[in-house]
Amino acid sequence: MIVYIQNWGGKYTEPVRKSNSSESIRKKKADAPTFPFAQQLLDWYDRYRRDLPWRASHDPYRVWLSEIMLQQTRVNQAINYYYRFLEAFPTLPDLARAPEQQVLRLWQGLGYYSRARNLHAAAGQVMEKHAGIFPSDIGQIRQLRGIGVYTSAAIGSICFRMPLPAVDGNALRVIARFYGLTVPVNTPAGFRAVTSRMEEIIDPARPGDFNQAVMELGAGPCAPRQPRCHECPLQSACVAFRGELAHQIPVRQPKKPPVLQEICYLVLRWKDTLYMRRRGTDAIWAGMFDFPQWTAEDGKHTPVPDAADIHQLTGIPPRGLRISAPLTHLLTHRRLHISFVYATLPRAWKAPPADVQAIRLDEMHTLPVPVPIAHCLRKVME
Ligand code: ADE
Ligand code: SF4
Repeated sequence: MIVYIQNWGGKYTEPVRKSNSSESIRKKKADAPTFPFAQQLLDWYDRYRRDLPWRASHDPYRVWLSEIMLQQTRVNQAINYYYRFLEAFPTLPDLARAPEQQVLRLWQGLGYYSRARNLHAAAGQVMEKHAGIFPSDIGQIRQLRGIGVYTSAAIGSICFRMPLPAVDGNALRVIARFYGLTVPVNTPAGFRAVTSRMEEIIDPARPGDFNQAVMELGAGPCAPRQPRCHECPLQSACVAFRGELAHQIPVRQPKKPPVLQEICYLVLRWKDTLYMRRRGTDAIWAGMFDFPQWTAEDGKHTPVPDAADIHQLTGIPPRGLRISAPLTHLLTHRRLHISFVYATLPRAWKAPPADVQAIRLDEMHTLPVPVPIAHCLRKVME
C-alpha cells in the first residue's frame, strides 16, 4: 500500500560549533610584535587584494551579510546576490521588516537556506535587543542566530578590530600548509591547531585585514589543487613549500559518502494553477515551496504513482499523466534522485493536505523554491 506522506528527511540540524577561545588572545598586548609572517602577508594583501564590494565599508550589517553569503558560496557568485540583497534591504531594519518569504526569494539559488532564515531572524533580534544597532560585544554577537565561531570572528575582527582568527576553509588550508600541520583539518583537533597558530600571529592592529589576507592567499596562490607558491609572499618560510608537501596538505579525514534518497513529486495542474506545498520549519528547505510528494510506506524506495493512485489521493481522475527522467541534486549529506510526475486535474482538488495550496502560475515567481523545483517550474512554464 502506498501512502502520501508529509515530509521527507529527518530534522535538519546545523553542525555544533565550538566556542572561540578568545579570552587568551584578548589579553594579548595590543603592541605585541607580530611575527614577520603577518607583516609580509599584510604587505602582500595591501598590494594585491581584490576590490570586493563588502571591503568598501566596515558597516557590520554589510560585513555580516557578506560573511554569511560567502560561507558556502564562491565570491563571484555571491557578488550579484550581495548587490541585489542590499538593494532590497539597504539597512538592517529594512531586512528585519521584510517577510521571510521575500528574504528566501532573494536567496534563491544560493542554497543552504537556513543561512537566510537565520539572517532574517537575527535582524529581528538586533531590533528587539539592541534597538537596531548591531552589537559590538563579542558575547552579544554570538547570541545572534546563525552567527558561530567563524562569523563572529570575521565580523569582530573586520568591524571592531577584535584580534580573533576567522578560521574558514581557506585558513585551514593555508595555515596547515604554512606550518606543515598534518592533523586532519576537518576534525576538532585540526581546527584547534589552526586556530591557535593564527592566534599567535594575528596582527592586533589589523586583525580584519589579517584574516582577509589569509582568505586571499587561499583564493589566490594557495589554491586547493595547484598551489602557485612562486606567487606567494610566504614561500621562503612555508613548511609545505620547503618540504614539497603542498600537494599532501591539508590532510582530511574521509567523509561518509552521501546517502541516496529517492523522491517523487506530484506536479498537479488545475487550470492556471499548480498545487504547491509549503515546507515545515524543521526540515531542510524549511519555509520554501515544493510539491506534494509520493512515497512508499517504508520511506525507502519510491514507486511512481499511476493514474489510479492519483485518483485515490485527490478524488479526481487525472489527465495527461507524464513522468520525467530523474534528476540528481546534491546536498551536504544526501544525494537526491528526484522524479516528477505531471498530471492535469479537470476539477479542483477538494481537500488537499493542510500545507498544500493551489498557486497561480503567474504568481510562481514570488515564491521561494529550491533549485530542483525551479528547474521543474521553468519546464512547466515553457
Ligand atoms: N570569504 C569569506 N569572507 C571573505 C572576505 N571577507 N573576503 C573574501 N573572501 C571571503
Ligand atoms: Fe601555500 Fe605555497 Fe604559499 Fe605555502 S608557499 S602558503 S603552500 S602558496
